[in-house]
Amino acid sequence: MSTVSTVLDELYHGHRAVQSYKDVETVTGLFSDLLVHEMNIPEYADDEDLSVLDIACGTGAATASLYAALPRQKWDTTKVLATDISQPFLEFIKERGAREGWKAMETKSAEGANVDAPAASFSHILLNFGIMFMGPSLLPTCLSLLRPGGAIGITTWHVLPWHDQVSRAASLLSPSPKVLTQQELLKTYHFKEGQFEDPAYMKRILEEAGFVDVRSEVRECTTVTTNEVVARTLGIPLKLIGNEWEEDTRQQVRELVLQGLAEKFGEEGPAKLKWVGVVTVGRKAG
Ligand SMILES: C[S@@+](CC[C@H](N)C(=O)[O-])C[C@H]1O[C@@H](n2cnc3c(N)ncnc32)[C@H](O)[C@@H]1O
Repeated sequence: MSTVSTVLDELYHGHRAVQSYKDVETVTGLFSDLLVHEMNIPEYADDEDLSVLDIACGTGAATASLYAALPRQKWDTTKVLATDISQPFLEFIKERGAREGWKAMETKSAEGANVDAPAASFSHILLNFGIMFMGPSLLPTCLSLLRPGGAIGITTWHVLPWHDQVSRAASLLSPSPKVLTQQELLKTYHFKEGQFEDPAYMKRILEEAGFVDVRSEVRECTTVTTNEVVARTLGIPLKLIGNEWEEDTRQQVRELVLQGLAEKFGEEGPAKLKWVGVVTVGRKAG
């Protein structure tokens, strides 16, 4: 049995980190697309200079959403600082930026919001599926890093991906392996204390940190994916949900999940999957 942090460490820092996370990004990117629009970034870019901080940038889902939402002629003047603690991700996003033409993007290794920038440096802060690793204590720093009137956007999971499919498949085995409930799992998976899956909680922590005009709501996204990507992506939740199972049991559950998807969507797919997150936005007064 590996600990949750070992599983996530492998996911974020291991030699296959970038490849396995690129699959995850096909989902997290849908939520960062929503975030960028909820924050009205394209409209803001019409008359003000953008300077965006992407905290816990990973392979660049939120930065990619940002540039995709802007007209090409704005790209060279749109500054982005993409930060993370994972070196493989930072190297990847740097190369990705060079390839994509994100000329004004810089990267920096940073823990949480400790990005070593002067106060009021940024017009926007993006934190796409990252706050659960850092906890709400980074929010006051985010507030000070924003210009007056600047905005923050945060996404979290409302329902843990794959939990339904994995627990249904596990229940078909005899004896059935123990499946942690969503709540139990969220508690383990959220390294920091907090109900990040709850929009009321998200709204409260932002308001307590001093943000205004805070809105938080549950949003759904759907992916239409090949069965191959589904099979690859399943490895991570299986390790988290079935952390205490024998490898053999994990394999059996994996086969049953894939079988269930094949019955529902056909052997060739594509699988149409629903993901449920929480999208929270707030503003610094001014
Ligand atoms: C679920 S991924 C999200 C990545 C990306 N924002 C996305 O939406 O695809 C979480 C990211 O948080 C980073 N991370 C975890 N703990 C961190 C910390 N304390 N400070 C900065 N980044 C952290 C991980 O390296 C990983 O890239």
